[in-house]
Amino acid sequence: MKPEPGSAARGKHSRRLRRILSLDDLEAAARRHLPRPLFGYIVGGTEDNAACEDNRAVFSEYGFVPRVLTDVSGRSQATRLFGKDYAAPFGIAPMGISALMAYRGDLVLAQAADEAGIPMIMSGSSLIRLEDVAEAAPGSWFQAYLPGEPPRIRALVERVEKAGFGTLLLTVDTAVLASRENNVRTGFSTPLKPSLRLAYDGAIRPNWLVNTFARTLLRHGMPHFENSYAERGAPIVAQNITRDLGLRDHLNWEHLKQIREQWKGRLIVKGILSPEDARIARQQGVDGIIVSNHGGRQLDGAISGLRTLPEIVSESGGMLVMFDGGIRRGTDVLKAIALGADFVFVGRPFLYAAAIGGQAGVQHAINLLATEIDQDMGLMGINSLEEMGPDLLYRKTGAQ
Ligand code: FNR
Repeated sequence: MKPEPGSAARGKHSRRLRRILSLDDLEAAARRHLPRPLFGYIVGGTEDNAACEDNRAVFSEYGFVPRVLTDVSGRSQATRLFGKDYAAPFGIAPMGISALMAYRGDLVLAQAADEAGIPMIMSGSSLIRLEDVAEAAPGSWFQAYLPGEPPRIRALVERVEKAGFGTLLLTVDTAVLASRENNVRTGFSTPLKPSLRLAYDGAIRPNWLVNTFARTLLRHGMPHFENSYAERGAPIVAQNITRDLGLRDHLNWEHLKQIREQWKGRLIVKGILSPEDARIARQQGVDGIIVSNHGGRQLDGAISGLRTLPEIVSESGGMLVMFDGGIRRGTDVLKAIALGADFVFVGRPFLYAAAIGGQAGVQHAINLLATEIDQDMGLMGINSLEEMGPDLLYRKTGAQ
C-alpha cells in the first residue's frame, strides 16, 4: 500500500474525517456519535479493565533502535499471508453487532477492507447474514463462536463453507460470559431491553438514531443474530428473549479436531495466550493462531498477548502467528512484528470509524495506520517488514 495521507477523507463525511488524525481520535468522535450503552459496549473491558490496560501499557515497555543511511526509498509494507498478497500487515478484527453501531456495519467494514487490500474478519455475533458479506466481499474471513455440541458445529461449518468463505476462525477464549459491569451500568444487553432510559440515550444521538437505527429498521427490518448457528437467532431488541449461547462451556480440543476434519479451508484459532496451547493447536493441524486476550473483554487480568508472543512463535513450527490487542499506531504494528507476529489485527478503531464515517471512515482509518507504518519503516531504516527483528527493539522495563 502506498498511502496518501488524508486521501480517504474525501466525500460526504470529509469534514468530520479531516479532523481525525490518528486512530485514537476516532474514539472521542464515536463517544459523541453513539448512544452511551453502545459506545460503552465497544470501549469497555471487564471488571477492573486490567487486561484492557495491559494491552496499551505493554507497547510502551519497548522502544526502537533505528538504523540510518540505509536508502529506504524501496520500502513496502505489502505482506504475504496464506499465499495471498495483502497491501498492509494488518486487518480488521471480528466485532459483534457491528450493524447496530454503523449502518450495514459488517458490509461497510468488509468492503472497505476489500478495496484497501486487507483482510476483514466477520464476527459470528453479527446481525447481517454471512452469505451477504461473502457475496459483497469474497475475501472476508468468518469467525465462529461454537458450543461444544457436534451437530451444531457441523451445521454451522457446513453453512460457512457453502457461503464460499475460505478462512474460518474459531474463537476459544469465551467459555463463559465475562463480567462486563460497564454494560450493566449503562443499560446495555443483548438483546437490548426497551426502556425509557434506552429511548432517551438514543434520542440524544439523533444522527445515529436516524441514519443507523431507523434506516436499518425501515430498510431491513429488526436485526437478528444471523450467524451464531446454522439458523437465525434472537432479535437485537426484545423484552423477554434470551440469546441461545448453547453449551459453550463444553467446547474442548476434541471439537477442534472435529472442525479440522470437516473444514477443508484455512482454520485459525483466536484467543491463545499460552505457548502450550499454541503447540497443541499446531499439532491439531490448524493453519494459524491469533494471540489475543479478546481486547481485554474476557478474563480480566489476562496478559497482553504481546508478552508471550516470542515464546509462542518459538512453538509455532511454521504455523502462522498473528496478534491483536491495543494496536493504535504504526509503531505498535512494528513492535508486534519485531516480536514475531506474522500479521496483526485491529478492532475498536475500525468500528468507531464505521460508526462515524461509514465506508469512507473505515478507509480513512486504514489509510492513517498504513501511512504511519510507511513513515515508521522509513525512520527505522528498513525496506521490508522481514527486516523488523528484535535487534531493532529495546526493552525499557523488566529487561532480561
Ligand atoms: C470484539 N471482539 C470479538 N472477538 C471475536 O472473536 N468475536 C467477536 O464477536 C468479537 N466481538 C467484539 C466486539 C467488540 C465491540 C470489540 C471491541 C471486540 C474482540 C476483537 O476481535 C479483538 O480481539 C479486539 O478488539 C482487539 O483489541 P483492540 O484492537 O480492540 O484493542
